[in-house]
Amino acid sequence: MTTAAVVGIGDISANHLHAIGEHPAVDLVAVCDIDPERAEAAAAQWGVPGFTDVDTMLRKARPDVVHITLPHYLHAPVAEAALRAGAHVLTEKPVAESYAAGAELARVARESGRTLGVCFQNRYNDSSQAMRLLVDDRTYGSVVSARASVWWHRDAAYYASSPWRATWREAGGGVLINQTIHTIDLLCWLLGAPEEISGVAANLTHRDITEVEDTATVAMRHPGGVTSVYFATNCHAENAPVEFELVFESATVRLQDGQLLAATPDGEVQVIASDLAAEGERSYWGASHARLINDFYAHLSAEQPFWIDADAALVSLGVLRDTYVASGLVPADAR
Ligand SMILES: NC(=O)c1ccc[n+]([C@@H]2O[C@H](COP(=O)([O-])OP(=O)(O)OC[C@H]3O[C@@H](n4cnc5c(N)ncnc54)[C@H](O)[C@@H]3O)[C@@H](O)[C@H]2O)c1
Repeated sequence: MTTAAVVGIGDISANHLHAIGEHPAVDLVAVCDIDPERAEAAAAQWGVPGFTDVDTMLRKARPDVVHITLPHYLHAPVAEAALRAGAHVLTEKPVAESYAAGAELARVARESGRTLGVCFQNRYNDSSQAMRLLVDDRTYGSVVSARASVWWHRDAAYYASSPWRATWREAGGGVLINQTIHTIDLLCWLLGAPEEISGVAANLTHRDITEVEDTATVAMRHPGGVTSVYFATNCHAENAPVEFELVFESATVRLQDGQLLAATPDGEVQVIASDLAAEGERSYWGASHARLINDFYAHLSAEQPFWIDADAALVSLGVLRDTYVASGLVPADAR
Protein backbone atom coordinates (compact mmCIF):
# COMPACT_ATOMS: atom_id res chain seq x y z
CA MET A 1 0.00 0.00 0.00
CA THR A 2 1.04 3.58 -0.70
CA THR A 3 0.33 5.88 2.23
CA ALA A 4 -1.12 9.38 1.83
CA ALA A 5 -1.82 12.49 3.88
CA VAL A 6 -3.94 15.54 3.07
CA VAL A 7 -2.88 18.99 4.28
CA GLY A 8 -5.56 21.71 4.30
CA ILE A 9 -9.07 20.50 5.15
CA GLY A 10 -11.08 23.17 3.33
CA ASP A 11 -13.46 23.18 0.37
CA ILE A 12 -11.47 21.10 -2.15
CA SER A 13 -10.02 18.60 0.31
CA ALA A 14 -13.12 16.38 0.06
CA ASN A 15 -12.32 15.64 -3.60
CA HIS A 16 -8.87 14.39 -2.58
CA LEU A 17 -10.03 12.50 0.52
CA HIS A 18 -12.75 10.67 -1.38
CA ALA A 19 -10.43 9.75 -4.27
CA ILE A 20 -7.88 8.39 -1.78
CA GLY A 21 -10.63 6.57 0.12
CA GLU A 22 -11.81 4.85 -3.04
CA HIS A 23 -8.32 3.94 -4.28
CA PRO A 24 -7.68 0.24 -3.58
CA ALA A 25 -3.90 0.67 -3.23
CA VAL A 26 -3.73 3.92 -1.26
CA ASP A 27 -4.09 4.18 2.48
CA LEU A 28 -4.88 7.53 4.12
CA VAL A 29 -2.64 7.81 7.22
CA ALA A 30 -3.05 11.44 8.32
CA VAL A 31 -4.90 14.71 7.85
CA CYS A 32 -3.64 18.14 8.81
CA ASP A 33 -5.17 21.59 9.23
CA ILE A 34 -4.01 24.54 11.26
CA ASP A 35 -7.60 24.82 12.51
CA PRO A 36 -7.90 22.14 15.25
CA GLU A 37 -11.65 21.71 14.71
CA ARG A 38 -11.18 20.95 11.03
CA ALA A 39 -8.27 18.60 11.74
CA GLU A 40 -10.28 16.77 14.40
CA ALA A 41 -13.43 16.50 12.30
CA ALA A 42 -11.55 15.06 9.33
CA ALA A 43 -9.55 12.74 11.58
CA ALA A 44 -12.79 11.40 13.06
CA GLN A 45 -14.48 11.07 9.67
CA TRP A 46 -11.59 9.15 8.09
CA GLY A 47 -10.35 7.28 11.16
CA VAL A 48 -6.77 8.60 10.99
CA PRO A 49 -4.62 10.84 13.21
CA GLY A 50 -5.22 14.58 12.79
CA PHE A 51 -2.42 17.13 13.04
CA THR A 52 -2.33 20.91 13.24
CA ASP A 53 1.31 21.27 12.18
CA VAL A 54 2.72 20.02 8.87
CA ASP A 55 6.25 19.30 10.10
CA THR A 56 4.94 17.21 13.00
CA MET A 57 2.68 15.31 10.62
CA LEU A 58 5.55 14.62 8.21
CA ARG A 59 7.75 13.39 11.05
CA LYS A 60 5.15 11.22 12.80
CA ALA A 61 2.98 9.88 9.96
CA ARG A 62 5.76 9.66 7.31
CA PRO A 63 3.32 9.51 4.34
CA ASP A 64 4.57 8.37 0.92
CA VAL A 65 2.43 11.08 -0.71
CA VAL A 66 1.31 14.47 0.56
CA HIS A 67 -1.76 16.09 -1.01
CA ILE A 68 -1.62 19.87 -0.67
CA THR A 69 -5.02 21.57 -0.56
CA LEU A 70 -3.85 24.79 1.07
CA PRO A 71 -4.01 28.53 0.30
CA HIS A 72 -1.74 29.34 -2.66
CA TYR A 73 1.13 30.96 -0.73
CA LEU A 74 1.61 27.74 1.27
CA HIS A 75 1.90 25.39 -1.72
CA ALA A 76 5.62 25.91 -2.32
CA PRO A 77 6.88 25.88 1.30
CA VAL A 78 4.78 22.85 2.26
CA ALA A 79 5.67 21.02 -0.96
CA GLU A 80 9.35 21.69 -0.34
CA ALA A 81 9.09 20.41 3.25
CA ALA A 82 7.32 17.26 2.04
CA LEU A 83 9.83 16.63 -0.76
CA ARG A 84 12.72 17.14 1.67
CA ALA A 85 11.07 14.61 4.01
CA GLY A 86 11.16 12.12 1.11
CA ALA A 87 7.46 12.25 0.15
CA HIS A 88 5.93 12.64 -3.29
CA VAL A 89 3.59 15.64 -3.61
CA LEU A 90 0.31 16.26 -5.36
CA THR A 91 -0.54 19.92 -4.98
CA GLU A 92 -3.68 21.74 -5.93
CA LYS A 93 -3.32 24.40 -8.62
CA PRO A 94 -1.64 26.84 -8.98
CA VAL A 95 1.81 25.32 -8.38
CA ALA A 96 2.59 28.46 -6.33
CA GLU A 97 1.24 31.95 -5.76
CA SER A 98 3.86 33.47 -8.09
CA TYR A 99 5.96 32.39 -11.06
CA ALA A 100 9.18 32.91 -9.09
CA ALA A 101 8.03 30.68 -6.22
CA GLY A 102 6.81 28.05 -8.71
CA ALA A 103 10.13 28.05 -10.59
CA GLU A 104 12.04 27.57 -7.35
CA LEU A 105 9.73 24.70 -6.38
CA ALA A 106 10.29 23.10 -9.80
CA ARG A 107 14.05 23.19 -9.12
CA VAL A 108 13.65 21.64 -5.66
CA ALA A 109 11.35 18.94 -7.08
CA ARG A 110 13.86 18.03 -9.83
CA GLU A 111 16.68 17.75 -7.31
CA SER A 112 14.58 15.72 -4.86
CA GLY A 113 14.08 12.79 -7.23
CA ARG A 114 10.48 12.63 -5.97
CA THR A 115 7.33 13.24 -8.03
CA LEU A 116 5.54 16.57 -7.83
CA GLY A 117 2.17 16.68 -9.59
CA VAL A 118 -0.18 19.62 -10.00
CA CYS A 119 -3.95 19.23 -9.99
CA PHE A 120 -5.13 20.43 -13.40
CA GLN A 121 -7.94 17.90 -13.43
CA ASN A 122 -9.78 19.44 -16.38
CA ARG A 123 -7.16 17.97 -18.70
CA TYR A 124 -8.80 14.63 -17.84
CA ASN A 125 -12.30 15.71 -18.93
CA ASP A 126 -13.57 13.63 -21.86
CA SER A 127 -13.97 16.83 -23.88
CA SER A 128 -10.35 17.88 -23.21
CA GLN A 129 -9.00 14.46 -24.16
CA ALA A 130 -11.12 14.50 -27.33
CA MET A 131 -9.80 17.98 -28.25
CA ARG A 132 -6.24 16.73 -27.68
CA LEU A 133 -6.87 13.87 -30.16
CA LEU A 134 -8.42 16.21 -32.74
CA VAL A 135 -5.39 18.52 -32.55
CA ASP A 136 -2.88 15.65 -32.74
CA ASP A 137 -4.65 13.58 -35.42
CA ARG A 138 -5.50 16.63 -37.54
CA THR A 139 -8.94 15.12 -38.09
CA TYR A 140 -10.20 18.52 -39.26
CA GLY A 141 -6.85 19.82 -40.45
CA SER A 142 -4.67 22.16 -38.43
CA VAL A 143 -6.07 24.20 -35.59
CA VAL A 144 -6.10 27.89 -36.54
CA SER A 145 -7.40 29.69 -33.47
CA ALA A 146 -9.27 29.25 -30.21
CA ARG A 147 -11.46 31.19 -27.83
CA ALA A 148 -12.48 30.46 -24.28
CA SER A 149 -14.53 32.27 -21.69
CA VAL A 150 -15.56 31.78 -18.11
CA TRP A 151 -18.47 33.76 -16.63
CA TRP A 152 -18.62 33.01 -12.93
CA HIS A 153 -19.92 34.51 -9.69
CA ARG A 154 -18.00 35.18 -6.49
CA ASP A 155 -19.44 37.32 -3.70
CA ALA A 156 -18.49 38.75 -0.31
CA ALA A 157 -19.45 35.53 1.47
CA TYR A 158 -17.00 33.54 -0.64
CA TYR A 159 -14.09 35.82 0.28
CA ALA A 160 -15.20 36.12 3.92
CA SER A 161 -15.22 32.32 4.32
CA SER A 162 -11.50 32.14 3.38
CA PRO A 163 -9.96 35.64 3.53
CA TRP A 164 -6.66 34.52 1.92
CA ARG A 165 -8.53 34.38 -1.42
CA ALA A 166 -8.93 38.17 -1.41
CA THR A 167 -5.25 39.06 -1.12
CA TRP A 168 -2.30 39.42 -3.48
CA ARG A 169 0.10 38.11 -0.83
CA GLU A 170 -1.70 34.85 -0.07
CA ALA A 171 -3.63 34.11 -3.28
CA GLY A 172 -1.33 35.78 -5.83
CA GLY A 173 -4.33 37.14 -7.75
CA GLY A 174 -8.04 36.61 -8.28
CA VAL A 175 -10.13 35.26 -11.12
CA LEU A 176 -7.07 34.34 -13.19
CA ILE A 177 -5.10 32.37 -10.60
CA ASN A 178 -7.90 31.04 -8.43
CA GLN A 179 -10.93 30.33 -10.60
CA THR A 180 -9.89 30.14 -14.24
CA ILE A 181 -6.23 29.10 -14.46
CA HIS A 182 -7.63 25.72 -15.64
CA THR A 183 -8.86 27.32 -18.85
CA ILE A 184 -5.54 29.07 -19.53
CA ASP A 185 -3.83 25.74 -18.83
CA LEU A 186 -6.09 23.97 -21.36
CA LEU A 187 -5.37 26.57 -24.06
CA CYS A 188 -1.62 26.28 -23.49
CA TRP A 189 -1.66 22.49 -23.29
CA LEU A 190 -3.71 22.09 -26.48
CA LEU A 191 -2.05 24.84 -28.55
CA GLY A 192 1.46 24.94 -27.05
CA ALA A 193 3.17 27.37 -24.68
CA PRO A 194 2.46 30.89 -25.95
CA GLU A 195 5.20 32.83 -27.71
CA GLU A 196 3.35 36.14 -27.29
CA ILE A 197 1.01 37.13 -24.47
CA SER A 198 -1.06 40.28 -24.31
CA GLY A 199 -3.36 40.52 -21.32
CA VAL A 200 -5.23 42.96 -19.10
CA ALA A 201 -6.76 42.36 -15.70
CA ALA A 202 -8.67 44.62 -13.33
CA ASN A 203 -10.94 44.68 -10.32
CA LEU A 204 -14.22 45.95 -11.81
CA THR A 205 -16.92 45.29 -9.23
CA HIS A 206 -15.29 43.66 -6.19
CA ARG A 207 -13.22 46.59 -4.91
CA ASP A 208 -15.07 46.64 -1.59
CA ILE A 209 -14.41 42.98 -0.84
CA THR A 210 -11.12 42.02 -2.48
CA GLU A 211 -7.89 43.65 -3.63
CA VAL A 212 -7.34 41.11 -6.47
CA GLU A 213 -8.65 41.22 -10.04
CA ASP A 214 -12.15 39.97 -10.84
CA THR A 215 -11.99 40.22 -14.65
CA ALA A 216 -9.30 39.56 -17.26
CA THR A 217 -8.80 39.07 -20.95
CA VAL A 218 -5.74 37.58 -22.64
CA ALA A 219 -4.73 37.19 -26.28
CA MET A 220 -1.98 34.66 -27.03
CA ARG A 221 0.03 33.59 -30.03
CA HIS A 222 1.02 29.93 -29.83
CA PRO A 223 3.57 27.98 -31.93
CA GLY A 224 2.81 27.93 -35.67
CA GLY A 225 0.95 31.27 -35.50
CA VAL A 226 -2.13 29.77 -33.80
CA THR A 227 -3.97 32.47 -31.85
CA SER A 228 -6.27 32.33 -28.85
CA VAL A 229 -8.45 34.82 -27.02
CA TYR A 230 -9.62 34.26 -23.46
CA PHE A 231 -12.01 36.12 -21.18
CA ALA A 232 -12.79 35.47 -17.53
CA THR A 233 -14.86 37.23 -14.90
CA ASN A 234 -16.18 36.69 -11.40
CA CYS A 235 -18.77 39.46 -11.90
CA HIS A 236 -21.52 37.33 -13.47
CA ALA A 237 -24.71 36.50 -11.56
CA GLU A 238 -24.12 32.73 -11.65
CA ASN A 239 -21.53 30.10 -12.56
CA ALA A 240 -22.14 29.51 -16.27
CA PRO A 241 -20.62 26.49 -18.04
CA VAL A 242 -17.11 27.19 -19.40
CA GLU A 243 -17.13 28.04 -23.11
CA PHE A 244 -14.28 26.70 -25.25
CA GLU A 245 -13.93 26.68 -29.01
CA LEU A 246 -11.24 25.45 -31.41
CA VAL A 247 -11.38 26.60 -35.02
CA PHE A 248 -9.81 24.02 -37.34
CA GLU A 249 -9.30 24.32 -41.10
CA SER A 250 -12.40 22.26 -41.83
CA ALA A 251 -14.54 22.36 -38.66
CA THR A 252 -15.32 24.40 -35.58
CA VAL A 253 -15.27 22.37 -32.36
CA ARG A 254 -17.16 23.84 -29.44
CA LEU A 255 -17.65 22.83 -25.82
CA GLN A 256 -21.23 23.67 -24.96
CA ASP A 257 -22.93 22.63 -21.70
CA GLY A 258 -20.49 19.76 -21.24
CA GLN A 259 -20.85 18.44 -24.79
CA LEU A 260 -18.12 18.74 -27.39
CA LEU A 261 -19.70 19.49 -30.77
CA ALA A 262 -18.00 19.59 -34.19
CA ALA A 263 -19.69 21.78 -36.82
CA THR A 264 -18.54 21.26 -40.41
CA PRO A 265 -19.14 23.63 -43.37
CA ASP A 266 -21.86 21.32 -44.79
CA GLY A 267 -24.00 22.28 -41.79
CA GLU A 268 -23.60 18.99 -39.90
CA VAL A 269 -23.10 19.07 -36.14
CA GLN A 270 -21.66 15.97 -34.52
CA VAL A 271 -21.31 15.19 -30.80
CA ILE A 272 -17.65 14.25 -30.24
CA ALA A 273 -17.64 13.79 -26.45
CA SER A 274 -19.76 14.37 -23.36
CA ASP A 275 -18.25 15.27 -20.03
CA LEU A 276 -19.30 13.43 -16.90
CA ALA A 277 -21.71 15.68 -15.08
CA ALA A 278 -20.34 16.73 -11.69
CA GLU A 279 -22.94 16.96 -8.97
CA GLY A 280 -23.75 19.50 -6.31
CA GLU A 281 -23.25 23.15 -5.64
CA ARG A 282 -19.61 23.07 -6.81
CA SER A 283 -20.28 21.23 -10.07
CA TYR A 284 -18.21 23.85 -11.95
CA TRP A 285 -15.07 22.10 -10.60
CA GLY A 286 -15.82 19.25 -13.01
CA ALA A 287 -15.73 15.54 -12.27
CA SER A 288 -12.13 14.65 -13.05
CA HIS A 289 -10.27 14.96 -9.74
CA ALA A 290 -10.39 11.19 -9.15
CA ARG A 291 -9.10 10.51 -12.67
CA LEU A 292 -6.09 12.75 -12.15
CA ILE A 293 -5.41 11.39 -8.66
CA ASN A 294 -5.60 7.75 -9.86
CA ASP A 295 -3.26 8.58 -12.76
CA PHE A 296 -0.82 10.32 -10.41
CA TYR A 297 -0.62 7.20 -8.22
CA ALA A 298 -0.26 4.93 -11.28
CA HIS A 299 2.78 6.93 -12.36
CA LEU A 300 4.60 6.59 -9.04
CA SER A 301 5.59 3.08 -10.11
CA ALA A 302 5.62 3.67 -13.88
CA GLU A 303 8.62 4.31 -16.10
CA GLN A 304 7.13 7.55 -17.45
CA PRO A 305 6.93 10.33 -14.84
CA PHE A 306 3.58 11.98 -14.10
CA TRP A 307 3.06 14.50 -16.88
CA ILE A 308 1.59 17.55 -15.08
CA ASP A 309 4.70 18.48 -13.12
CA ALA A 310 5.85 21.86 -11.81
CA ASP A 311 7.37 22.81 -15.18
CA ALA A 312 4.10 22.03 -16.98
CA ALA A 313 2.23 24.09 -14.40
CA LEU A 314 4.55 27.06 -14.84
CA VAL A 315 3.28 27.72 -18.37
CA SER A 316 -0.09 29.06 -17.22
CA LEU A 317 1.55 30.88 -14.32
CA GLY A 318 3.78 32.66 -16.85
CA VAL A 319 0.68 33.90 -18.70
CA LEU A 320 -0.71 35.23 -15.42
CA ARG A 321 2.56 36.91 -14.48
CA ASP A 322 2.75 38.73 -17.82
CA THR A 323 -0.88 39.82 -17.58
CA TYR A 324 -0.54 41.09 -14.01
CA VAL A 325 2.67 42.97 -14.80
CA ALA A 326 1.22 44.50 -17.99
CA SER A 327 -1.84 45.62 -16.01
CA GLY A 328 0.28 47.32 -13.37
CA LEU A 329 -1.13 45.03 -10.67
CA VAL A 330 2.25 43.72 -9.53
CA PRO A 331 5.72 45.15 -10.08
CA ALA A 332 7.71 43.29 -12.76
CA ASP A 333 10.55 42.46 -10.37
CA ALA A 334 8.25 41.04 -7.68
CA ARG A 335 7.20 38.01 -9.67
N1 LIG B 1 -8.78 22.04 -8.85
C1 LIG B 1 -9.87 22.74 -8.59
O1 LIG B 1 -10.82 22.76 -9.36
C2 LIG B 1 -9.94 23.53 -7.31
C3 LIG B 1 -11.18 23.97 -6.79
C4 LIG B 1 -11.17 24.68 -5.59
C5 LIG B 1 -9.98 24.98 -4.95
N2 LIG B 1 -8.80 24.57 -5.52
C6 LIG B 1 -7.51 24.89 -4.88
O2 LIG B 1 -7.41 24.20 -3.66
C7 LIG B 1 -6.64 24.94 -2.72
C8 LIG B 1 -7.46 25.17 -1.47
O3 LIG B 1 -8.61 25.91 -1.81
P1 LIG B 1 -9.91 25.85 -0.88
O4 LIG B 1 -10.94 26.63 -1.60
O5 LIG B 1 -10.19 24.43 -0.49
O6 LIG B 1 -9.37 26.67 0.38
P2 LIG B 1 -10.01 26.75 1.84
O7 LIG B 1 -9.70 28.08 2.37
O8 LIG B 1 -11.43 26.28 1.81
O9 LIG B 1 -9.17 25.64 2.63
C9 LIG B 1 -7.81 25.82 2.99
C10 LIG B 1 -7.56 25.09 4.30
O10 LIG B 1 -6.17 25.19 4.62
C11 LIG B 1 -6.05 25.37 6.03
N3 LIG B 1 -4.75 25.95 6.36
C12 LIG B 1 -4.36 27.25 6.22
N4 LIG B 1 -3.08 27.39 6.63
C13 LIG B 1 -2.66 26.16 7.02
C14 LIG B 1 -1.41 25.65 7.52
N5 LIG B 1 -0.35 26.45 7.72
N6 LIG B 1 -1.33 24.33 7.81
C15 LIG B 1 -2.40 23.52 7.65
N7 LIG B 1 -3.61 23.94 7.18
C16 LIG B 1 -3.72 25.24 6.86
C17 LIG B 1 -7.22 26.25 6.38
O11 LIG B 1 -7.52 26.22 7.75
C18 LIG B 1 -8.32 25.68 5.48
O12 LIG B 1 -9.04 24.67 6.15
C19 LIG B 1 -6.26 26.23 -3.47
O13 LIG B 1 -5.02 26.04 -4.06
C20 LIG B 1 -7.31 26.35 -4.54
O14 LIG B 1 -6.90 27.09 -5.67
C21 LIG B 1 -8.78 23.84 -6.66
